[in-house]
Amino acid sequence: MRQDGFRSEEIDTSRPHPARMYDYLLGGKDNYELDRQAAEELAAAAPEVRIGVQANRAFLRRAVRYVVGSGVRQILDIGTGLPTSPNVEEIARDVAPDVHVAYVDNDPIVNLHASTLLTDSEATTTVLADLRDPQAVVDDPDVRRVIDFDRPVAVLLVAVVHFLTEAEKPAEVVATLRDALPAGSFLVLSHATGDFADRTAAQAVYNKASATLTLRDRAQVERFFDGFELVEPGLAQVPFWRPDTPPPARSGEIGFYGGVARKTG
Ligand SMILES: C[S@@+](CC[C@H](N)C(=O)[O-])C[C@H]1O[C@@H](n2cnc3c(N)ncnc32)[C@H](O)[C@@H]1O
Repeated sequence: MRQDGFRSEEIDTSRPHPARMYDYLLGGKDNYELDRQAAEELAAAAPEVRIGVQANRAFLRRAVRYVVGSGVRQILDIGTGLPTSPNVEEIARDVAPDVHVAYVDNDPIVNLHASTLLTDSEATTTVLADLRDPQAVVDDPDVRRVIDFDRPVAVLLVAVVHFLTEAEKPAEVVATLRDALPAGSFLVLSHATGDFADRTAAQAVYNKASATLTLRDRAQVERFFDGFELVEPGLAQVPFWRPDTPPPARSGEIGFYGGVARKTG
């Protein structure tokens, strides 16, 4: 066990892992051969997945700029993923230098990478915790050190809720987070869907990896925003959520919905 509580034996490299597969698809280097093979299988099963992950990440950048531009100065990023440039704090601090960011992921390798890159330990933290226990995330002392739940918070659940099965009650998970937030807070959420193409083969790749991918349709994803008001244009395929450049070719096939919503009451 290291001083920071990280145990290297917790890193499972015997099976592909979604964070490392995603990193590979984004062109990152923090992945192993098994992850690369699974990611290639995924891209063979769902050819638009490469532009899909890029479009998802571009959605995250636009959404973070939007919420910080709306005045929010605290971000709780759950399902952070491996460091990708620009990362959430860089995007946010480009708009406002005083943004606090708490990164949460249940993958020890993500936690390790994120913690070595922390630039400002007063305003940023990285926590190993699980979205399936949202109250523990909200109560985590390190999260509380940088996030004040009496002031607006933007919760990012970007490309992570689809790793929760129905049995894990994702709607209750999101509702628990929502109830911890004051008015003026935001939910930024993106989610994989099979609404635009058959994704059965892609799901099978994940099911062999260390995660289960649950695709949800538009109505199911929209329900995660209960108790929030979606900002324009509402829930959209990620390339079409407030694009700042022309959406890439084949955007209509991209199987990710994204939306940003404000808690008003
Ligand atoms: C596809 S990546 C998304 C990364 C980033 N949010 C983005 O969209 O660019 C999904 C991340 O969610 C994390 N994750 C999956 N299930 C989780 C859970 N139950 N609790 C916390 N993190 C989880 C994975 O470890 C991975 O880092």
